[in-house]
Amino acid sequence: MNAVLPKQLPASAFKNSAGEENAPDDTERNTGMYFDVHEDVSTGLPKQLPARRVLKPFGVYIHWPFCLSRCPYCDFYKEVKKDVAQEDIIDGYLQDLEYYHRFTQDKTVSSIFFGGGTPSLIKPQNIEKIINFTAKKWQIRKDVEISLEANPNSDRENLFQELKTAGINRLSLGVQALNDKDLRFLGRTHNLKQAQKAIDEVLTTFDNHSMDLIYARPKQSLTEWEEELKQATNFGFKHISLYQLTIEDGTVFAAKGIQPLDDEAAVKMYAFTNDYLNTNGYPQYEVSNYGLPCKHNLLYWEGDDYIGIGKSAHGRFMSDGKIYATTYHLNMEELTAQERAEELVIMGLRLNAGINKQRFFENCGLPFAEAINLQNLQNLISEGFLTETKNDLKATSKGFAVLNKIIEELCC
Ligand SMILES: C[S@@+](CC[C@H](N)C(=O)[O-])C[C@H]1O[C@@H](n2cnc3c(N)ncnc32)[C@H](O)[C@@H]1O
Ligand code: SF4
Repeated sequence: MNAVLPKQLPASAFKNSAGEENAPDDTERNTGMYFDVHEDVSTGLPKQLPARRVLKPFGVYIHWPFCLSRCPYCDFYKEVKKDVAQEDIIDGYLQDLEYYHRFTQDKTVSSIFFGGGTPSLIKPQNIEKIINFTAKKWQIRKDVEISLEANPNSDRENLFQELKTAGINRLSLGVQALNDKDLRFLGRTHNLKQAQKAIDEVLTTFDNHSMDLIYARPKQSLTEWEEELKQATNFGFKHISLYQLTIEDGTVFAAKGIQPLDDEAAVKMYAFTNDYLNTNGYPQYEVSNYGLPCKHNLLYWEGDDYIGIGKSAHGRFMSDGKIYATTYHLNMEELTAQERAEELVIMGLRLNAGINKQRFFENCGLPFAEAINLQNLQNLISEGFLTETKNDLKATSKGFAVLNKIIEELCC
């Protein structure tokens, strides 16, 4: 664990939610860590959970919707504003965390993710406030992953070091393109020189890091992408997210009539990307993600519990035997087991590892075979779109190309 953890962590972070002190330090725990879990000394496992899944993942997502400008391809919820009343907003976030704590206090936080918008605009002291508050309210795994998405053009000189000091231990950098022409086309406010500076700083400051690129840009050739991808893998990031450009309704690109790259060229780029990364140290584990998995995003795809704070955040968690879907602001709706099961199929098939049937059952309460259309499943397997074992269901590479169709068939 590389983080320089929060300076102001309160003493209560060493207590569980019932206010008890941690077990004495005769376990294998690293006593130098601020974050810790409460283990049964005899077994080394947490007291309250079954032995099979040692600690069920539980995530906290913090959404910061503000951006300094509007990228012409982006249809994420955002507000373009320079000055926002950060302290007031953060106080509201702490209240929302407090609210959700009453439903999730028995869980142990395995990841916190600051996403956006542009969360690198949050002042580091406010990041630290949120991390400290989370650590005070919940038990936290000592290997907790705390990620933040950053844009490469901050005017804050020591931003990355300050973020690390605030408790961030995984930095995800939105580079998007590795040449000035395409950065301009994508309407980014950074140029290649700024991207390179940020890349160097992220790589020297953090032990865990990721970069985002958008490819299959209109007019981009396969050869250009091959070169750019090779360059991207040479930096040494632990993780890379690669998204093919989509033209979304309501964006500036859509209004201008910008056309995406044709399907055939995009499919070739995807095939090259997967082959190249799988043989060059970045195994694909999800449709668009490669390398050392992001624990937090994995938790969504595997269907584990998380809470979401901020304007366009959502949450999913089980509490008292009920499954909740939450949206801003503290809006909680109960989901049926079947509704959650369908979400788990949609998310799980994005993973190369596919759907683990036991985890599926734990996360929605329905046996896998009762939640899906078995006749269609058999057809999809015999047509070569899916493979099934006693424990898992996975899409084949033929299946990955038509995931939406497969999901429709399984969930009807
Ligand atoms: C929530 S966004 C924004 C993160 C950060 N604000 C930034 O711009 O780098 C996360 C990622 O989605 C990707 N993305 C957003 N819109 C896209 C689009 N229309 N097509 C492909 N990728 C897109 C970008 O790679 C981006 O880094
Ligand atoms: S791509 Fe990122 S910086 Fe650009 S508008 Fe969307 S969220 Fe904001």
